[in-house]
Amino acid sequence: MAAGAQRSLLENRLVIVTGKGGTGKTTVSAALALAGARAGLRVLVAEMGPDEQIPRLLDPRAPRAGYAGCAILPGLRAMRIEPFEALAEYLGLQLGVRAIVDAVVRNRAFRQLMTAAPGWRELITLGKIWHLAQLDSEDPPGRRFDLIVVDAPATGHGVAFLDVPRVVVSAVRAGPLRAHAQRVERMLEDSDQTLVLPVALAEELPAREIAELTDRVRNEIGISIDRVIVNAVVGPPFPDAIRDLDEALARLDGDLELGALPPPRVLARCAHHLRSRHELNRRFTAEIQHTTGLPIVELPRLPEGIQGPDQISSLASALLAKPVFLK
Ligand SMILES: Nc1ncnc2c1ncn2[C@@H]1O[C@H](COP(=O)(O)OP(=O)(O)O)[C@@H](O)[C@H]1O
Ligand SMILES: [Mg+2]
Repeated sequence: MAAGAQRSLLENRLVIVTGKGGTGKTTVSAALALAGARAGLRVLVAEMGPDEQIPRLLDPRAPRAGYAGCAILPGLRAMRIEPFEALAEYLGLQLGVRAIVDAVVRNRAFRQLMTAAPGWRELITLGKIWHLAQLDSEDPPGRRFDLIVVDAPATGHGVAFLDVPRVVVSAVRAGPLRAHAQRVERMLEDSDQTLVLPVALAEELPAREIAELTDRVRNEIGISIDRVIVNAVVGPPFPDAIRDLDEALARLDGDLELGALPPPRVLARCAHHLRSRHELNRRFTAEIQHTTGLPIVELPRLPEGIQGPDQISSLASALLAKPVFLK
């Protein structure tokens, strides 16, 4: 899909949230899942990280979802995709003898061997997502999930795992592995269904990294990408009428007595700090837009951090804003 012609995030069937660790992928995945459920969609949010965070972000009393998954809210299920469990399930389906497969997959030597083997975890995980996307529901009839949100792992190259099906298809000439990888590849490359949603911070290093990431997704991996989420943006700290508060304070006598307040010298420094945080964010948001060529959706930095459903809920509405090219 061409940049600039974005549909709503909720019109995708599969959204893969990517970015470096700490940028807000898990927060954005939870917020998108909530936005989808609120809009009446049947949503599955799947975490791939080592520990499970999303259920608790959406409901402090949520049980562990695990691989089997659980309902968190009406219309919203969460799960964590664990590669060995996905492998056991896949082999069980292929071979029809789940008990033997479970014993093999639990075997320590087998796990050590597989931990060293490249690529299978990604392929099996993406295969599980493909499988989930095919599931049907009887009541109401149709797809089991309208929207699947994947909180992708923060590996060195955040998107390398998305390339595995293509690599397998080009390396394996025939057989069930090739067929499996091809199905997964077709799902990922289907721009009517699948979107990569990159999350970045408006800071120097993350801005550079997101440009590399979006470039790889578009030019090497070939999955649709139509916006960048710039997270934790510090807004203007002062109302417009006193936009230059720090400068006004700096013009006062630095040691003036202000009663219970610290002297102007200290206030000016605090105000300057707040304003430069905001200006830094603005500068790197502009740079992200320039280097990626993609429109931006900004999410505010919440001063209290992300504690739970209240914060996720406020970010959920901001996330659905139309992506724009900032002036
Ligand atoms: N918009 C925001 N405002 C304030 N804090 C945020 C915001 N987004 C994320 N955080 C905090 O930043 C940290 C990293 O966010 P997280 O979603 O876990 O990132 P990732 O999954 O990419 O590692 C967490 O402590 C989270 O609470
Ligand atoms: Mg995370």
